[in-house]
Amino acid sequence: MKVLVATQKPFAAVAVKGIKDILGAAGHEVSVFEKYAAQEDLVAAVADAEGIIIRSDKVTAEVIAAAPKLKIVVRAGAGFDNVDLAAASARGIVVMNTPGQNSNAVAELAVAMMIFMARTQFTPATGSEIAGKTLGIQAFGNVGRLVGAKAKALGMKVKAIDPFLKPEQITDGGAEPAGSLEELYATSDYLSIHIPATPQTIGSIGYELISSMPKGATLVNTARKEVIDEAGLEKALEERPDLKYITDVAPDNYEALREKFGLRVFATPKKMGAQTSEANINAGLAAARQITDFFATGNTRFQVNK
Ligand code: 3PG
Repeated sequence: MKVLVATQKPFAAVAVKGIKDILGAAGHEVSVFEKYAAQEDLVAAVADAEGIIIRSDKVTAEVIAAAPKLKIVVRAGAGFDNVDLAAASARGIVVMNTPGQNSNAVAELAVAMMIFMARTQFTPATGSEIAGKTLGIQAFGNVGRLVGAKAKALGMKVKAIDPFLKPEQITDGGAEPAGSLEELYATSDYLSIHIPATPQTIGSIGYELISSMPKGATLVNTARKEVIDEAGLEKALEERPDLKYITDVAPDNYEALREKFGLRVFATPKKMGAQTSEANINAGLAAARQITDFFATGNTRFQVNK
């Protein structure tokens, strides 16, 4: 089978080699299509592909229509909001993710971001310590749990909420269950977001929640920029000169925010949460194994468009 590794943001070379080895050993033909400049290049590159491995690359209805032989798309990572699931399902194309494989990298970045903001973006201005502060975790999945464990080890008090978990499951995961999302925001010195971008969550974190945070609080977003209502964020930052926002996904209004709020806001230049060689190897090789297994046995474990 012809498998395309389409990654605008490339995997580490060691991961690419591992992917090629796994797919090659199973008799598949691998082409690597990295750092492409435009979406139309991806559309043009998929003509022969029977399987595709992607990261945050956009597999739109147009990409799917341009790939008549396509049978499987594996998103090497967690979030699959970049894949048009309806268009894939309409063609019987299986879409999978590789849950958990890059979670530690994202969790480490969330912790690093808290410290970076607590220490005034590594400027000499007097900062604060995260020990003794309360961290609220919005969604206690693979990443949220790891963030919680690391934060506890650093002396933070950890609270969490997750619409898919019972309070006792949150307790079992080492955090204190919050009674409501409103309570979590209102009581967290640091709030780390780990929800996916879905029709229900897009724009769901806005003025009300952000402005309810305690004095000096920091909102940390290593999830998706779309979950933030950017106008609401801006209004909250305007009204509350003590609040801070750090994100791994630059908001559309980042330049304006940075100009207005200086060191109280920060966005990474490119999404980097999962950009470690370990995460690239874990997620990339898992994707290659999942494709190999699918073609060999029809295994659809991790399918997200069932
Ligand atoms: C994910 O959903 O797995 C993360 O956002 C990582 O995305 P990336 O593979 O584009 O870095």
